[in-house]
Amino acid sequence: MAFLTIANLHKRFDDHVVVHDFNMSIEQGEFITFLGPSGCGKTTVLRMIAGFETPTSGAITVGKDDITHLSPQKRGIGMVFQSYALFPNMNVTDNIAFGLKMRKLSSADISRKVAEVIKLVELKGKENHYPHELSGGQRQRVALARALVVEPRILLLDEPLSALDARIRKNLREQIRDIQRRLGLTTIFVTHDQEEALTMSDRIFVMNQGRVEQEGRAEMVYTQPATEFVARFMGNYNLLGAADAHKLLGLDIQGHMAIRPESIHVLDASANQEGALDATIRQHQLLGSIIRYQVESQGITLQVDRLNRTASDLMPAGTAVKLQISRDDMREVR
Ligand SMILES: Nc1ncnc2c1ncn2[C@@H]1O[C@H](COP(=O)(O)OP(=O)(O)O)[C@@H](O)[C@H]1O
Ligand SMILES: [Mg+2]
Repeated sequence: MAFLTIANLHKRFDDHVVVHDFNMSIEQGEFITFLGPSGCGKTTVLRMIAGFETPTSGAITVGKDDITHLSPQKRGIGMVFQSYALFPNMNVTDNIAFGLKMRKLSSADISRKVAEVIKLVELKGKENHYPHELSGGQRQRVALARALVVEPRILLLDEPLSALDARIRKNLREQIRDIQRRLGLTTIFVTHDQEEALTMSDRIFVMNQGRVEQEGRAEMVYTQPATEFVARFMGNYNLLGAADAHKLLGLDIQGHMAIRPESIHVLDASANQEGALDATIRQHQLLGSIIRYQVESQGITLQVDRLNRTASDLMPAGTAVKLQISRDDMREVR
């Protein structure tokens, strides 16, 4: 049986509908990501799950309990925000202990639980530091510890890594996932970063304008986008409209043809390969392990990725080539 179920959730602010018919069912221990651009309703859905916002209609259940109208304190849900929301005048220990004090636990229990969670998020030695004495990554770990210490049934993380720099973000990503696995904690993580979603999630819900655009396991959503929006958002896909698909590939389609940059093969201009397209390299971008080329064929520009093995692999602008695209690597999307 599903652990957390959201059924037909709607949210309207005045006459602006920001969440439309949102449905979701997740298992205990799953790590779910809401992925979508800014303003698509991710935070609003999270706030309705946490109880900080009342749905216009729809139901939220955890196990057998309908929690749709329960107060936030009674839901057993922990939440971490993008901004740390720590108390500036309290040290690490007191920030983490706050929720336990509110629950009137004994001081011995509070000390024990706080010490455990400080160890879990690797903040030992920082107990007496104040927020302003900590780095962004450390502050976010305090916020995580504060959410974990009350032993929530569900953890909600609203873009907790967005304000951090790239290296710290990657470390903390792994740390969050590791802690989540160890605790078997049902988690919903919100991000607008597709790489973050792909590396962390069991399942991804791609959101667009208050709706779930596509839902599925990370590798499925990436390799099998259902819509033009998901293809654009997830994988730097080339998207050919019906006219271009006909012109370039001789295909008759309704929507768009999505082709991943890494699935297009670049052949020598002299290659005698049936169906290969004559093309010209226009420019390139170095993306570290790959080189992304803009390649033109019949006035249509395609992005093509190649592994960056040696500097002599680089094909300068103006190089004539042939492109081979296998039909299996094309995907028609709505
Ligand atoms: N309290 C509110 N009152 C009115 N509009 C709101 C309120 N909160 C959010 N919105 C609007 O709802 C939409 C979705 O916002 P949000 O859930 O914050 O998106 P995201 O987290 O995906 O960036 C936005 O258009 C936003 O302006
Ligand atoms: Mg948000």
